[in-house]
Amino acid sequence: MKKLFITSTILASLSLPLFAGSAFTDSEDAIEYRKASFQLIRHNMMDLGDMIRGNVPYDAARVQKRANALAAVTTLPWEAFTVPGADKASGDAKADIWANLQDFNSRADKFQQDALQLQTAAKGTDQAAVKAAFAAFAKNCKACHDKYKAD
Ligand code: HEC
Repeated sequence: MKKLFITSTILASLSLPLFAGSAFTDSEDAIEYRKASFQLIRHNMMDLGDMIRGNVPYDAARVQKRANALAAVTTLPWEAFTVPGADKASGDAKADIWANLQDFNSRADKFQQDALQLQTAAKGTDQAAVKAAFAAFAKNCKACHDKYKAD
């Protein structure tokens, strides 16, 4: 029964029009994707923050792993904001995003650049540089959420 359901779900999704290539089956799928991306960002950032604050021992290899992950996952959410049907207020995404898309995108760009700088710092041995890059990176979250995310 379950198998039949899965098969018919796959078949149904195959017959839907394709959004953004074949990454998203529909707008709800795109919204789920961007939320999942933000969760990946959160998980990797929290562990890094704990190491930087000394809540858990600083482990350079783990710092690098987290910073590498952040450099990748911070590129993910943005395309899912412009999928047809997902380009309006939904969930916690405020309508202001689409009224100020240029500002929103430039914040997203800066965020990704700061993630790359954090990744570069994490490759080195200077913990103070990692700390500074992390602080700069972390500022992006609240700055964007205050304007564009309902809480
Ligand atoms: C350029 C804007 C922007 C930046 C930068 C940003 N966010 Fe967000 N974030 C959003 C928006 C918009 C949403 C709401 C998405 C939705 O509900 O569709 C969101 C949602 C979230 C969510 C909730 C996801 C869910 O499951 O509903 C988490 C967690 C999150 N962000 C964490 C972070 C963290 C941590 C950072 C910084 C390291 C960050 N975000 C940086 C815009 C941003």
